[in-house]
Amino acid sequence: MTRKILVTSALPYANGAIHLGHLVEYIQTDIWSRFQKMRGHECWYVCADDTHGTPIMLRAEKEGITPEALIERVHAEHSRDFAGFHVAFDNYYTTHSDETRHYSEDIFAKLKTAGLIEVRSIEQYYDPVKEMFLPDRFIKGECPKCGTKDQYGDACESCGAAYAPTDLKNPYSAVSGAKPVLKSSDHYFFKLSDPRCQSFLRQWTKNGARLQTEASNKLQEWLGEPGENKLTDWDISRDAPYFGFEIPGDDGKSTGKFFYVWLDAPIGYMGSFKNFCDKTGLDFDEYWGKDSQAELYHFIGKDILYFHALFWPAELEHAGYRTPTNVFAHGFLTVDGAKMSKSRGTFITAESYLQQGLNPEWLRYYFAAKLNGTMEDIDLNLEDFAQRVNSDLVGKYINIASRAAGFIAKRFDGKLLHAHVNERFHADLPGLREAAEEIAGYYEARDSARALRRVMALADQINQYVDKNQPWVLAKDKEKDELLHYVCSALINAFRLLTIYLKPVLPKLAQRAEEFLNVAPLHWADAGHLLPPAHLINAYEHLMQRIDPKQIEALVAANRESLAPTPAAVPAAVSPAPSSAASHSPQRHAQHQQAAEDKAQASAGGPYISIDDFSKVELRIARIADAQHVEGADKLIRLTLDLGEGEGKTRNVFAGIKSAYDPAQLVGRLTVMVANLAPRKMKFGMSEGMVLAASDADDKSTGLFLLSPDSGAQPGMRVK
Ligand code: MSP
Ligand code: ZN
Repeated sequence: MTRKILVTSALPYANGAIHLGHLVEYIQTDIWSRFQKMRGHECWYVCADDTHGTPIMLRAEKEGITPEALIERVHAEHSRDFAGFHVAFDNYYTTHSDETRHYSEDIFAKLKTAGLIEVRSIEQYYDPVKEMFLPDRFIKGECPKCGTKDQYGDACESCGAAYAPTDLKNPYSAVSGAKPVLKSSDHYFFKLSDPRCQSFLRQWTKNGARLQTEASNKLQEWLGEPGENKLTDWDISRDAPYFGFEIPGDDGKSTGKFFYVWLDAPIGYMGSFKNFCDKTGLDFDEYWGKDSQAELYHFIGKDILYFHALFWPAELEHAGYRTPTNVFAHGFLTVDGAKMSKSRGTFITAESYLQQGLNPEWLRYYFAAKLNGTMEDIDLNLEDFAQRVNSDLVGKYINIASRAAGFIAKRFDGKLLHAHVNERFHADLPGLREAAEEIAGYYEARDSARALRRVMALADQINQYVDKNQPWVLAKDKEKDELLHYVCSALINAFRLLTIYLKPVLPKLAQRAEEFLNVAPLHWADAGHLLPPAHLINAYEHLMQRIDPKQIEALVAANRESLAPTPAAVPAAVSPAPSSAASHSPQRHAQHQQAAEDKAQASAGGPYISIDDFSKVELRIARIADAQHVEGADKLIRLTLDLGEGEGKTRNVFAGIKSAYDPAQLVGRLTVMVANLAPRKMKFGMSEGMVLAASDADDKSTGLFLLSPDSGAQPGMRVK
């Protein structure tokens, strides 16, 4: 039976680049959706950029462009990155769209009619200079517990205490630096605490198959014991200035309030699908209508479970739409056992991975080999990454084709055996075709780790078959020609079967394998038969390179940032559960929604950096041991810098100071350099740091002035 399936991944915020952590999600959803398509089901995979909110507004302002221009640029970047990793959305849209606006207004109106929207006045911090209400993460001050300075309005990074922004001592606005004042304003609330929501959610989450065990446990914890009312109402509005959709008032009057980003973000799933339906003629209601028989799945990270498993189904249910069939939550990515880190170079963007020339399918394979359908975190161990890909993909899988292809081409004109090999194949390589359904079951359960283990066990079995039959020995004996032809034909067939099993994970490689095999795009059902007798295959070209560990070193070096302007850019890998009593206070009850908006704000930044940020820059006194012109460069001088590291150890730095200095005049003098800047490969060689010089903002006509210390300073001294 053909299933109708609609799949989504969480909508990435439009204010930051896609990184390897994100890819854990998009790759796994893509694998699942490709698998369903290969099974012959009608499966649609839609997503969009999440474009609204304060952080995006401020970021655009800081860049001096409109939010519309910002989200358009980011949309192009995100689309490019996803395509680079073969993430094949059927539609990649934006929440800043008429469709999303339509469903936001529609759902809001229906919830209002159902009596589930309430207006309440709340007091919040307000920035009197910037004239805006401040989200928690835009308020900083001293921790009320331990006194550490420059802590965010929701939690202390030093002692871990959680509090309300009003608890901070000496608070200031991270946007303008001004002292915030308390101001009250009317807000719209979705009454999640209403008995109807409570009873609906209890019943919805109990329905066994619907949620992963860990997720369902989390939900029980959030809901509390039967009779208990732990859910708090949800503030779904924001005051101007805000980038988003204005909330319509009665009779089309203006309210001056905007839908909070988390209200329109999930609705963006509907908006994207509606846009797709309008382009393709699909029936929207067949998927989203109350009586829809289609399956609907949301792949998400564990940090946003609260929104997807509580707010979202409750909203849909009471606005007359269908609710999700299931929500699939996954864990967070760590690299070499730790949270991704800019200073270690493990906060790796999708773009830099591709730019460094690494094959995206290596990462797809590695992630797939680790993902098992649970909420456990997954670790990218860089050493294991190279080993695993090299030994599994190249050593086991690709090897099968390369061992057989040459003989078929040279000895048999590219043709497989003229006889049917079915029975003999089954006897020689038992289980290879029969494994199709078992492997499909693992993919279906999103346990790609298990699927790939099974595939690699089959690859081992096939390689043993090669070693046993030794085609290279058969090839020496003319009389064994027929046997050689049979063995190689069997191997080509075996390779084709493995290609089917790996295709959801390695779509590009599979496509090249299909060209080599001279077959139409493979579907799962193709595992039910072998290639026909005398089938002609194409010349074999090497299908995949091994990973050179040097490529990984270069990747990490390219991502190592000694200057970390956005210290909190990595979202915390925690579920925003309302666990403490404090979560019921007027400020705190907004905690879950705030957490997610806030995690995106870091890259919008404020006017200050902390002393910690500054101390990450390692400034040192350097002696210019040598200075040379660089042939072919009109701006650069090559400096050899002595940092007192001893024994002829020097640094090579290319400095753009040729317009102001003659190399000869520089030799011997002292200057200041950034000693921990990630080495950068330039056209003329590696540059291992940077020297400091003063100049006019953009006009160098007033000259360039290299810094020098007062006399007495020694090479290597730290500048603080
Ligand atoms: N915009 C919201 C989602 C709205 S959905 C209606 C958001 N955006 S995000 O860009 O921060 O994250 C997008 C997805 O990527 C989320 O599901 C998130 O959990 C996931 N990941 C982001 N960083 C991740 C890791 N380091 N590891 C694994 N997944 C991660 O949340
Ligand atoms: Zn503290």
